[in-house]
Amino acid sequence: MKNREKLNIIIAGTGYVGLTTGLALGYLGHSVTCVDKNTEIIDKLERGISTIYEPGLEGLLESKGNNLTFTANLTDYLPQADLVIIAVGTPSKSNGDTDLSFVEAVAREIGASLNEGTEPLVVVNKSTVPIGTARRVESVIREELEKRNLKCSFSVASNPEFLREGSALHDTFYPDRIVIGAEDMRAFNLVRQMYAPILEQTFNPPQEVPRPEGFSLPALLHTSATSAELIKYTANSFLAMKISFINEVAAIAEKVGADIVEVARGIGLDKRIGPGFLNAGAGWGGSCFPKDVQSLLFAGSQYGCDLSLIQAALDVNRAQRKRMIEKLQQLLKVIRGSTIGVLGLAFKPNTDDIRESPAIDIIAELLDMGARVKAYDPIAAEKYRGQFPDQNVQLCDSVEETAKESDALLLLTDWDEFRHLPWAEISQVMSRRNFVDGRNMFNPEEMTSYGFSYSGVGR
Ligand code: UDX
Repeated sequence: MKNREKLNIIIAGTGYVGLTTGLALGYLGHSVTCVDKNTEIIDKLERGISTIYEPGLEGLLESKGNNLTFTANLTDYLPQADLVIIAVGTPSKSNGDTDLSFVEAVAREIGASLNEGTEPLVVVNKSTVPIGTARRVESVIREELEKRNLKCSFSVASNPEFLREGSALHDTFYPDRIVIGAEDMRAFNLVRQMYAPILEQTFNPPQEVPRPEGFSLPALLHTSATSAELIKYTANSFLAMKISFINEVAAIAEKVGADIVEVARGIGLDKRIGPGFLNAGAGWGGSCFPKDVQSLLFAGSQYGCDLSLIQAALDVNRAQRKRMIEKLQQLLKVIRGSTIGVLGLAFKPNTDDIRESPAIDIIAELLDMGARVKAYDPIAAEKYRGQFPDQNVQLCDSVEETAKESDALLLLTDWDEFRHLPWAEISQVMSRRNFVDGRNMFNPEEMTSYGFSYSGVGR
């Protein structure tokens, strides 16, 4: 085992996971090389410009010091590396399977560039990958080495990430747990060593990411690579299921006149259930839950397992989007010809990410039904326009502009800036004062007192 504290780490991929992890590990004192094939990205990062929207990232990038290198060339840095972290994209294929071509390309490059005599290398899978990928990476590297008749010493570990967009740095510095899936003790020890400052919380917190008060040390879990891979999918599927569960109960709460916010609080106080991920609303989206749920379902179909609970979580989530439209329809009676102001395009606040955002399906459906759609998002509007350049949606610069002459407002992302607006005044500029609160952001009585016909989810 290496007894140096400072490790040489290569990170392949500079997306959310790669860049956040790279900046954090560099901050903790390791020597980190972030690699991306896209030279435009490398160029920007070198100039201190963040290529993703993530609070705190730019600050860390500016103060990067000399622990961080950005390059398009992995091979040059491989001889000095202790660890290579694979953090490239793993998009879904149309059949729900996962496209591993980027992961395999990195493995192939490692296998084609490793040489005898260099330190034994540990390759760490951080990309979210199907079960068996650690083995697959190992066999791809071995295949490449065999082509050159080499027997280099290396091993592959699985180290899933659990960071949330919008609080990615916080989750990296202050995780609940760190899971290291490795059969080889040397690999386990090296990955543990890499995380030692986080496990022991020995670092001075960066200005942008203060340590939460009373933060207790993260748990360290040593598992097999296969368990680690399954932990990642299971965690996300369970959280998605929790949200779908509360959304399903929200429907009955509405019928019987209960308030789902009270119900969620009432069950969340039971430690066995926990309070998180019980906010009823327009449902889940993003780059992880939809993809990971689909991947686990695909694995189930491959291995002959009927994952009906997880399938139901997906079905409920799809139906939840339709329920937002039903709510509008109940208030407006006729959708065709109505003007709907959509508040929020991002799949959640503090990100410009619109992947699988409920807003996408809902807006498409409203347009199909003949509505006129206006929309506002503090950050994600540009991305939305880029992705749907020909769609007939009027993007606005403010909530007020969106509300003007609208027949209803439909809130789909709980951006904090929506919280303290002069809603009584805003309601005055609307043609009809209807408000569908797809995130239960507001107090129903208060919104009613501003003149709105208000409809939340499950209350
Ligand atoms: C998620 C996991 O939380 C993270 O651990 C993993 O590494 C990546 O996937 P992320 O996709 O960034 O993170 O978003 P998250 O904050 O989990 O929210 C996912 C979706 O669920 C959002 O659309 C959000 O609006 C929705 N949500 C969340 C609810 O509808 N209700 C809730 O109570 C919580």
